[in-house]
Formats: sequence, C-alpha cells, structure tokens
Amino acid sequence: MANLRYYIAIALGLVITLMYWFKEDADVHYERPVQEVAAVEKGKTLALNGRGSIMACTSCHGQNGEGMANYPRIAGLNAAYIKKQLEDFARDLPDIGVVLERVSKDYEKTPRDYKDLTVYTPGVRHDDLMSPMAKAMTKEDIKNLSAYYSTQAFSSTPKAVDHLTLERGEELAVRGKPEYMVPRCEACHGPKGEGFRELFPPLAGQPVEYIIDQINRWQRGDRDNDNLSLMKNVANMMTDADKINVARYYSNMSYSINEEN
Ligand code: HEC
Ligand code: HEC
Repeated sequence: MANLRYYIAIALGLVITLMYWFKEDADVHYERPVQEVAAVEKGKTLALNGRGSIMACTSCHGQNGEGMANYPRIAGLNAAYIKKQLEDFARDLPDIGVVLERVSKDYEKTPRDYKDLTVYTPGVRHDDLMSPMAKAMTKEDIKNLSAYYSTQAFSSTPKAVDHLTLERGEELAVRGKPEYMVPRCEACHGPKGEGFRELFPPLAGQPVEYIIDQINRWQRGDRDNDNLSLMKNVANMMTDADKINVARYYSNMSYSINEEN
C-alpha cells in the first residue's frame, strides 16, 4: 500500500511537471505590463494599510513580506500559488452532515501504521487568522495582492545552526528514506528548495516554525489543499525528528529572488 502511494506520488509529480513545461509557450507570450503595474500598486496599498476587516498584511508577514516564526514569508512566492492559497483559505469546509473524529497518530518512528483518512474536498486550508480575511477579499483584491507579493524581493542567508541537525535535514531533503518509501523533498520542491511554479512552493528561507507547523497541519488534516494529496502523503510519513531537521535545513538555505528589482 505504501509502495503504491510512493510510486503514484512520483509518477504524478513527473506528469504534472511535464504538463507545465509544455504549457510554458503560452506563458512566454503572457502580457504583463500596464494592468500588472496597476495591480501591483493597488496590492501594495492594501498590503500596507489593510481595509475594514482585512488587516495590513505587513503587521504579521513583516514590512517586506519576509515572514517570521509562524507567519510565512510571502514575498516572491508565485502569483498563482498565492491566489490559490487565498482562495483555499476562503473556502468553507463542505457540510457533509457528520463530524469526523480526529485519529490520533504516533509520529515518533518512521515505519508507522496509520489509516489514511483522505477526504476529497475541493481544497480546504483553514486558519483562524487568514480564513476570515481571505473571505473578506474580492477577486480583485486577491489578484492585486498576488501581483504585489509575487514581485517583492526576498533573500535569506545561512545562520550558525547545529551541523548535525542540518546534515540530517539535508539527508531527508536530497535522499528521502527510500527504504521506507519516503520521497526526497527535492523531487518536488527543487534542488535549492526554490520551488516550481505555482505547483510546488519554495521552502528555502521559510521560518523553521512555519515549516514544522504546516507539516503538523497536514498530519492533523487542517491543511488539505494540495493537488492529488501529493504533500499530505509525504507529511504523513514524517516523524517529529524529521520535521525539525528538515525545517532547519531549508530555513537555513541561501536563497534570493527578485533582488534586481
Ligand atoms: C493576523 C496575522 C496575519 C495577517 C494580518 C495576514 N496574515 Fe497571511 N498568514 C498568517 C498565518 C498565521 C499564516 C499561516 C496559516 C497556516 O498555517 O495555514 C498565513 C499564511 C498566508 C499565506 C500562505 C503562504 C504560503 O506559503 O502558503 C498567504 C499567501 C498569506 N498569508 C497572505 C496574506 C496577505 C496577502 C495578507 C494581507 C491581506 C495577510 N496574509 C495578512 C497570518 C496573517
Ligand atoms: C510529490 C511531491 C512533493 C514532495 C516529494 C514533497 N512535497 Fe512538500 N509540497 C508539495 C505540494 C503539492 C505542496 C502544496 C502546494 C499547495 O498547497 O498548492 C507542498 C507544500 C509544502 C509545504 C508548505 C509550504 C508553504 O509555503 O505553505 C511544506 C512546508 C512542505 N511542502 C515540505 C516538504 C518537505 C519537508 C518535503 C520532504 C520531506 C516535501 N515537502 C516533499 C509536494 C511535495
């Protein structure tokens, strides 16, 4: 069963990647200029000042969208990824008439027994802070905010961190645990943790707390918005130690985007 899931994840990742490579042509001719500039400006105004129940994004995500602790960096993320996340935050859990009990799982060791509780929702990502604000946004707001943050610069530089932790994190990132069918993070998130288009978000430079928190949310079922459950299946195989090691590794990577602007 775990075998099958592993190969499906790898095969689907490959298919999606190829699909988007071939779509590239269309994107090359995508016209950005005039409207984009206006969208960036409007997005900036909303990001800095907020409006009504929408708080200024800068108050949690930092003055330049650089993030901190549980607040992710959003500067330089792919525009379509930002848009998708905001739409997913805004979506209500489908009312299916039954209350699902949380299944408690033990994440201490790698080969673990768990029953997969996949609920095929249209992609829900609930957060007490983000969801109400995302609900209050118009389509226009979402477009503008995505335009603004995707063009913002971001860079991160390595800090002094315990090298053993980093090495263990790197091991998981570049090799995975093939003996337990855990894929390497690089396969989807890129060799430098830089991400791939709107499909796979960057991990490089994201705060340690945020990375751990997201994996916990997948394990608990609070985040259930990844295409084909690609990330959920990986998250479900990670131990508590894996989360800490890999989060420190990615958080500590050198990375920069949009710097020349
Ligand atoms: C009160 C604090 C707060 C404010 C204000 C806030 N955010 Fe967030 N944001 C969060 C938290 C916390 C998360 C992580 C949620 C989770 O764990 O799923 C988040 C996540 C996000 C993400 C997902 C990033 C990713 O890597 O998946 C995006 C995009 C985002 N916020 C955009 C915005 C925008 C745009 C604004 C301004 C309109 C904003 N946020 C204002 C707290 C905030
Ligand atoms: C098979 C592909 C695949 C592999 C392998 C994979 N991921 Fe992911 N990951 C995804 C997808 C898809 C998303 C979510 C995209 C979305 O929400 O639309 C994601 C999102 C994430 C996020 C949330 C980022 C954010 O900005 O909110 C974290 C953290 C993460 N992955 C960590 C990891 C780690 C650590 C590993 C290695 C142990 C890993 N991933 C391996 C596909 C993958």
